[in-house]
Amino acid sequence: MQLLDGKATSEAIRQELMKAVQKRRENGQKIPHLAAVIVGNDGGSLTYVGAKVRACQEIGFDSTLIQLPEELSEEALLQKVEELNNNPQIDGFIVQLPLPKHMDEKKVTLAIDPKKDVDGFHPLNLGNMVLDLPGFLPATPAGMLELFKRYNIETSGKHCVVIGRSHIVGSPMSIMMGRNASPGNCTVTLTHSRTKNLKEITLQADIIITAIGKPGFLTADMVKEGTVVMDVGITRVADATRKSGYKLYGDVDFENVAPKCSYITPVPGGVGPMTIVSLMMNTLKAMELK
Ligand code: GUN
Repeated sequence: MQLLDGKATSEAIRQELMKAVQKRRENGQKIPHLAAVIVGNDGGSLTYVGAKVRACQEIGFDSTLIQLPEELSEEALLQKVEELNNNPQIDGFIVQLPLPKHMDEKKVTLAIDPKKDVDGFHPLNLGNMVLDLPGFLPATPAGMLELFKRYNIETSGKHCVVIGRSHIVGSPMSIMMGRNASPGNCTVTLTHSRTKNLKEITLQADIIITAIGKPGFLTADMVKEGTVVMDVGITRVADATRKSGYKLYGDVDFENVAPKCSYITPVPGGVGPMTIVSLMMNTLKAMELK
């Protein structure tokens, strides 16, 4: 079993990005600038956005964190999005999800200029992905593709089972793994809460990608020997013995599944850090395309 070390891989990519920024600085060129919008005080979201902004600072990107109150109106948020669309200093921006219940996430996503949509959530970018046209790939699936690439894992002709059909991970990942591309060229099965006989399906998988947010959901009896497992789940479970007060769990019963795998991502330190560098790569690309 080999660990897919997202932390080390993302660190290598950060070094590459740092060099690219340094070169731009030396040549007097513009430095990539990412803005992140967060509405409300959700602990998980604040942690993720904080990590994104910190990553910008470490790499040498410019960054702006825009923290807005929970009770903000949808109209005011849309106005902020429009401001960012029109601000020539900002190359790309994200609006952290989920948004408060009184806001329509689809409406907000649609308002983002696709050229600045470094999350790759806008329908234009998702459509470009389906058609193999240039655009921004969603950060988490793109980060997983990068792991397949950097660990030289063969995907062509393999059976890839994706568990979870979210708009930001499961659905786009199922499409990306089935494209005529490398990594890609898989036979893909997209499973979800209504899937019958899930275990029968996962036992046929060469690659399993879990993205449902249910700690320990994928157990050893669901996995055949030699499977590649990527775990996107990251759930906080209260743990009084820890300073933070919680422990992070993936969707995979890691302890029992890992010995059966050829490759597996840990949680934390697997897919999570790759999502952040994908976002940085998309931001650099957004600036270069301008
Ligand atoms: N919420 C969970 N993951 C993400 C992400 O990658 N981007 C945004 N904007 N919100 C998220």
